[in-house]
Amino acid sequence: MTPVPSTEEIRTALEAVIDPELHRSIVELDMVRSIDVSANGVVDVTVSLTTPGCPIKDHFQTAVSQAVSALEDVTHVNVYFDVLDDAQRAALQQKLGRGSLPQGTLARVRNVICVGSGKGGVGKSTLTANLAAALAGEGKHVGVLDADVWGYSIPRMYGLGATRPPVSAERKIIPLDAYGVKVMSIGFFVEEDAAVVWRGPMLHKALTQFLQDVDWGALDYLLIDLPPGTGDVSMTLAQLLPQSRFLIVTTPQATAQKVARRAAQMAEKFSLEIAGVVENMSGFRAPSGEHYAIFGTGGGGELAEELNVPLLGRVPLTMPLREHSDGGAPLVLEQPDDPAAQAIQQLARGVIATSPPEPELETLPLYDGGASQPAAGEVPTGARKPAGMSLPMA
Ligand SMILES: Nc1ncnc2c1ncn2[C@@H]1O[C@H](COP(=O)(O)OP(=O)(O)OP(=O)(O)O)[C@@H](O)[C@H]1O
Ligand SMILES: [Mg+2]
Repeated sequence: MTPVPSTEEIRTALEAVIDPELHRSIVELDMVRSIDVSANGVVDVTVSLTTPGCPIKDHFQTAVSQAVSALEDVTHVNVYFDVLDDAQRAALQQKLGRGSLPQGTLARVRNVICVGSGKGGVGKSTLTANLAAALAGEGKHVGVLDADVWGYSIPRMYGLGATRPPVSAERKIIPLDAYGVKVMSIGFFVEEDAAVVWRGPMLHKALTQFLQDVDWGALDYLLIDLPPGTGDVSMTLAQLLPQSRFLIVTTPQATAQKVARRAAQMAEKFSLEIAGVVENMSGFRAPSGEHYAIFGTGGGGELAEELNVPLLGRVPLTMPLREHSDGGAPLVLEQPDDPAAQAIQQLARGVIATSPPEPELETLPLYDGGASQPAAGEVPTGARKPAGMSLPMA
């Protein structure tokens, strides 16, 4: 008897089939009604559609066929369709309701960019903090959301302590301002260095609140500093922000590149566009002028080529970058001639160049130039004093 894939393997392969309207996989949406595998390698898959005349039927036909045919020992794939009954449709609605943000949230944010990597310590937060400052230096309105709810480091990198952000009269949380960048982090709500323990639903709620209940205003870029890996936070954000793009950080060595590929696969699974790759820690130049490839060479370029996305920057290792991250001031502003600062400025220009073109002037959202933005820690004039908020869940 020839080996055939199990239904579980087929189900896993079907996770790659994304509903183009709902931006989620048909497995997650419970749209895979049945999977049958015959001993001769013929696979029958039945997909439930939301409506009988569903216009994306052809898309599913092709995508399901392709995903399953790619498995070894599959000889033929038949795709059948049925339609969700009312109860199933209601369950789907509920599922989507929990996963998506209310309409209008982030309506005035033009670009959402998640900065991620497969592994920790490659410089995501350092690059996020400096890239945001560099973008602001290019005249852009920029926000940073620190989504690393366990190992938040953005407040420290901007020299912000555990200051509670003020709440506006509309009961929105106002991000703190650092170097012209609007910043939000769980670190503002918990005792310094306190360990934050999260249960799944709380995490989901916190991230939703960071997007929905924070007054981000009009932004050209909202950068999201992800925790390492492809865990719960990344998944939740990918679901909440189907329009976001991914910036993948890697170091030059092959193993890091392999791990970074996983982050790319996750982005692809959720149909998120990959904006590009940044290689960090790309060698060190000693004062003598000699160049040391401490973490190897070429990983960023290879990954970018493999993913068919631009390599947006190669940032060298420099002592000032580390010192300024620890010291709480972005290097790009403090020491713009440092080679790492220069590379990050170039990265910023690359990000701008690869962003969708700006809309016509008449359709631009109004922006008050930050005039209504209170200083860090201040309650804005005219606003009621914060009477507690639902965010702190430490
Ligand atoms: N190009 C660089 N040159 C010198 N130091 C760097 C460079 N990039 C990052 N660092 C330093 O490396 C350390 C790790 O960086 P960072 O915290 O930004 O990584 P991360 O990917 O966000 O880590 P985590 O996965 O834990 O969130 C920090 O001390 C930072 O200052
Ligand atoms: Mg980090």
